Amino acid sequence: MNIMDYDTVALDDQKDALVIIDQTRLPYSIEILELTELKEIWDAIYLLKVRGAPAIGVAAAIGIYLEAKKIAAVSDCFADFYDKFKLAKKYLDSARPTAVNLSWALNRMEQVVLANKGKMLVEIIQHLHAEAVEIREEDIRVCRAIGEYGLTLIKDGDGLLTHCNAGKLAAVKYGTATAPMYVGQEKGYNFKIFADETRPLLQGARLTSFELQSSGFDVTLICDNMAGMVMRNGWVNAVFVGCDRVAANGDVANKIGTSMVAALAKRYDIPFYVCAPTATIDMATATGNDIVIEERKPSEVTDMWYEKPMAPAGVKVFNPAFDVTDNELISGIVTEFGIAKAPYIDSLKEIFARKAGQ
Ligand code: MRU
Repeated sequence: MNIMDYDTVALDDQKDALVIIDQTRLPYSIEILELTELKEIWDAIYLLKVRGAPAIGVAAAIGIYLEAKKIAAVSDCFADFYDKFKLAKKYLDSARPTAVNLSWALNRMEQVVLANKGKMLVEIIQHLHAEAVEIREEDIRVCRAIGEYGLTLIKDGDGLLTHCNAGKLAAVKYGTATAPMYVGQEKGYNFKIFADETRPLLQGARLTSFELQSSGFDVTLICDNMAGMVMRNGWVNAVFVGCDRVAANGDVANKIGTSMVAALAKRYDIPFYVCAPTATIDMATATGNDIVIEERKPSEVTDMWYEKPMAPAGVKVFNPAFDVTDNELISGIVTEFGIAKAPYIDSLKEIFARKAGQ
C-alpha cells in the first residue's frame, strides 16, 4: 500500500484508540500504532512519532477525548471530572512547547466541557467526541483552502522549494506547504519540487521526499546547505513552508533552518510564503521573541542516523528544534481565509475578522 493511503492521525472508535503512522520509522517501514494510554500519546508527540503542528493538534484532541471518557467512567460529579480533565490536558500540553496547535486543540476541547457543564458526563463525552472528529475534519477543509489560495501564487511548471515536512504527514490530508502542490496536481499542473533534507531529524528527506515521490511529483532531495545553489541557478520560483506558531506581527516559528531559507530567498528575489491555518496563528503572542523554542537532545545532532557518533564525545551542542523568521522576509502568509501581506499586524487581524464573520 502507498503511504498516502494511510491516515496520518485518526480515531478508532471500536478500539478507543488514537491511530497514527509511526513517523520515526519512515520511509522504510510503515508501522501503524494504536495508542490508548495518555502516557503513550504524550510519548508519541514528544518523540515525533506523530509530528507537524496540525497533526499534533488533532492527536491531542483525540487523546484528551479518550482520556476524558476514562475519567468520566470513574467520576461521581462534574467537579471531580473537570479537575481530572484539567490535569490530563496540562500533561498533554507539556509534550511540545512551540507548535501552538497543541494548546489550541486542547483549549477547544476544554471549551466543550465548560459549555456543557450542566449536562450528564455521558453527554459531555459525546460532545467531546464530536469536537475531536470536527477538529480532524476541519483540518482537511482548512488545508484544501490554503492549497487553493496558494495555487494563485504560482504557475504550471514552476520550481518550488520546501523545508521540513509540512505535508500530509504533518496534517490530515493536503498538508499546509504542500497543499498548493497537491491542489495544483489535481488540476494538471506540473511542478519541480526541491525538498531540503532538514537537519538534524531529516523530516525533509524521510518524510517530504517520500510523500511527494509516492504521490507522483517530480521531487529532488537536497541537503540544507544546497538551497542557495539551486536558488542561484534560477531553479526556484517560490518557497512554501509551514509553521508552528505565527506571532501577531507576522514573525513565524518553523523548523530550524527556515529563517536561513527565507534570507536566501530574499537575496535571490524569490517569494517566500508561509502556509498557516488560523489555528497556528497566535494573536496572543506579540512577536517572534515571545515564542518558546523547543530544545532537543544533543544526540540528535551527534549520533542519530549515523552508524557511529560523528562528533567528539562530550562536545557542546546547541539543538533548537525551531527558529524564527522575521516578518520582513515573508512575502505572504497563506491562510484558509486568504493571503495576509505586510503589514501583518493589520492583515492578520483582517484574517481573523473574516473568520469571525464566516
Ligand atoms: O519538529 P516537527 O517535525 O514537528 O516540525 C514540523 C515543522 O516545523 C513543520 O514545518 C510545521 O509543523 C508545519 S506542519 C504543517
